[in-house]
Amino acid sequence: MKPEPIKFDQTPPRPKVPAHPVWPTLGAKKKSALIRRIKDLLHANHAILVAHYYVDGDLQELAEATGGCVADSLEMARYGAATDAETIVVCGVRFMGETAKILNPEKRILMPDLGATCSLDEGCPADLFSAFCDQHPDRRVVVYANTSAAVKARADWMVTSGIALPIVRHLHEQGEKILWAPDKHLGRYVQQQTGADMLLWDGSCVVHEEFKGFALERLRRLHPDAATLVHPESPEDVLRQADVIGSTTRLIEAVTKMPNKEFIVATDDGIFWKMRQLAPGKKLFSAPTAGAGATCESCAHCPWMAMNALQNLEQVLIEGHNEIEVDETIRERAVLAIKRMLDFATEHGISGALPRN
Ligand code: 13P
Ligand code: SF4
Repeated sequence: MKPEPIKFDQTPPRPKVPAHPVWPTLGAKKKSALIRRIKDLLHANHAILVAHYYVDGDLQELAEATGGCVADSLEMARYGAATDAETIVVCGVRFMGETAKILNPEKRILMPDLGATCSLDEGCPADLFSAFCDQHPDRRVVVYANTSAAVKARADWMVTSGIALPIVRHLHEQGEKILWAPDKHLGRYVQQQTGADMLLWDGSCVVHEEFKGFALERLRRLHPDAATLVHPESPEDVLRQADVIGSTTRLIEAVTKMPNKEFIVATDDGIFWKMRQLAPGKKLFSAPTAGAGATCESCAHCPWMAMNALQNLEQVLIEGHNEIEVDETIRERAVLAIKRMLDFATEHGISGALPRN
């Protein structure tokens, strides 16, 4: 059965994409002084950094150098739930900060910019989503991590791209029908792989949606030995050309393990920092975001992830502002969907971490 994106009488809002923030370039001396001050502030605040692969390489490097974590959204959640630091500073987007708060209500969760949201989250408002769920009470509600706490509170399960397939397969084997939100491309991919009966919300990621299948074919012809790595938030005609489809962690792992010398990568180019760190000899190309005459808004870099920088990280550690708050009634419900995913991950030995050499 081929699922159709839902036709809803109230079409989900199309999020407004902000311009990429422009951060002043720091000279080497100023940058290392700033990094030193941030390290002292982290220590003084009993804080750790948890960063996503899409944020600036300086932040990823700093998170690793200070004993924090750089990971995909599954591992960020797992790590946040296990750490005993008093303060977690999440360098990523808002849903990642909210997940950390939902799992650690007693901890202080800070973010460099609370305005760093996500087009999937913004395109799935809780009131519309709740009405959608009310129309389909016979379905298990599975939501992607890239949603608000209020949407998670309405869900039975939360999943990330790193664990969506085994969880939906498990539900399908139990005879469950699924209501899926918000990413229609990931939802379609999961439906095709598992054969589950899934009803999809009509949402998408502005970054991945811009990858163009036609232009990718041309680039692949120019680099016939390159392996094509695709995040499953990408459109179907891009996924169809992939050698590897997976979460950010799986794509990084592919660059380190595959024998190819060249890779075409269809995901946010912030991921190149980690790929280059682990596989310095390999050549990486961004998948094309525009065909002839087309334009791109995000151009393979998430404008919300780009709101994280050394400068506002220092400010948040000095002022302690930008704290994530989640209403307790919402939190108590949302935590059930997240814990279900984490328990499933533990039970089935699934992690979002890169394998250690
Ligand atoms: P991962 O869970 O694969 O890191 O993806 C998060 C995300 O926002 C992709 O756009
Ligand atoms: Fe959201 Fe897309 Fe940005 Fe990921 S890359 S945080 S899905 S807008």
